[in-house]
Amino acid sequence: MSKLRMRILEINRESGRFFYKTLISPEGEPGLSYFKGRGLDPGTIKHFGLGYAPESGFGLVNHLRKLGYTKEELLQSDMVRTSKKGNLYDRYRGRVMFPIFDLRGNVTAFGGRILTDEKPKYINTSDTPVYHKSSGLFAMNLAKNSESRQLILAEGYMDVIALHRAGFTNAIASLGTSLTEEQARIMKRYADEVVICYDSDDAGQRATQRAIPILKAAGLRVKVITVPGGKDPDEFMKNYGKDGPIRFRQLLEKGGTDVEYRLQKLRDQFDLDTDEGRVRYLSEATRTVIAKLRNPMEQEVYAGRVAQEAGVDKDRVLETVERLSKQE
Ligand code: GTP
Ligand code: MN
Ligand code: MN
Ligand code: MN
Ligand code: MN
Repeated sequence: MSKLRMRILEINRESGRFFYKTLISPEGEPGLSYFKGRGLDPGTIKHFGLGYAPESGFGLVNHLRKLGYTKEELLQSDMVRTSKKGNLYDRYRGRVMFPIFDLRGNVTAFGGRILTDEKPKYINTSDTPVYHKSSGLFAMNLAKNSESRQLILAEGYMDVIALHRAGFTNAIASLGTSLTEEQARIMKRYADEVVICYDSDDAGQRATQRAIPILKAAGLRVKVITVPGGKDPDEFMKNYGKDGPIRFRQLLEKGGTDVEYRLQKLRDQFDLDTDEGRVRYLSEATRTVIAKLRNPMEQEVYAGRVAQEAGVDKDRVLETVERLSKQE
């Protein structure tokens, strides 16, 4: 490993320690109350190495300078930035901090959340010599040790933390960016099945539709669940309290395949009580979902399903699929 990369990993490790120490010091009181308000206990804070970046904007930079890191190294780590006057200042100020670890346990990046509803809500480390957003997965370092060959893919830091606390230690997050092939490839090393559990709002549902083909192309089986009673797994666990873990387990067991999920999205668009609605549902489902399936068995099963839903013969669906494939 290059000297610079080694130094950046040290800077990150040291920054993580600094944020944690700040959090449990008097200066970290706003951060600690924030985490408490979101239901986190000291054990969880330690487990995930959470912290607080002081308001002042110079706490971390002064600390790291004292340890002998050069201006260039600090800038390359993206933990500090330069002002117009050329002074270094802390990138993260007055934010609670979430370290991101690589698979070897190095701290490679951070996410920082503002305590209010100011924007941007989260800021994250940009690409550095030790971190590429396109391959970053929060908590993959922990999830890779879980027994099962299944991963639960959520959107955010707090979702993953809530899921781990509820016993689902195979949860990871893709952190807002749309899922990449690289992230899917990493997941495939540790899993055969991914359960997408993105937010139930429009953004989350759109992201789900985009993630499905990427995960499948990496050879993963895909299931999709959407949490009721709140818009993300963190809110779900909060709302269901001690019943949260059992309720979530039930959702996992009922979780539909990616095909079922996409058919459900179409059913939501059309009124199946009318002839017109059924015709449109059948056409769309056949063209955009059934005809795209690569596995003939899968195609047969789901052709039967949509045919039944629309009240037609399965052969009509399969004939259409064949006609479409000839047009390609
Ligand atoms: P909480 O409000 O803390 O519960 O956050 P959330 O995880 O529910 O937020 P949201 O669903 O809006 O976003 C999901 C994930 O996207 C977050 O955990 C972040 O990783 C990322 N994200 C959210 N907002 C921003 C933002 O303003 N900038 C960037 N870069 N990322 C964001
Ligand atoms: Mn690189
Ligand atoms: Mn969201
Ligand atoms: Mn969310
Ligand atoms: Mn949330």
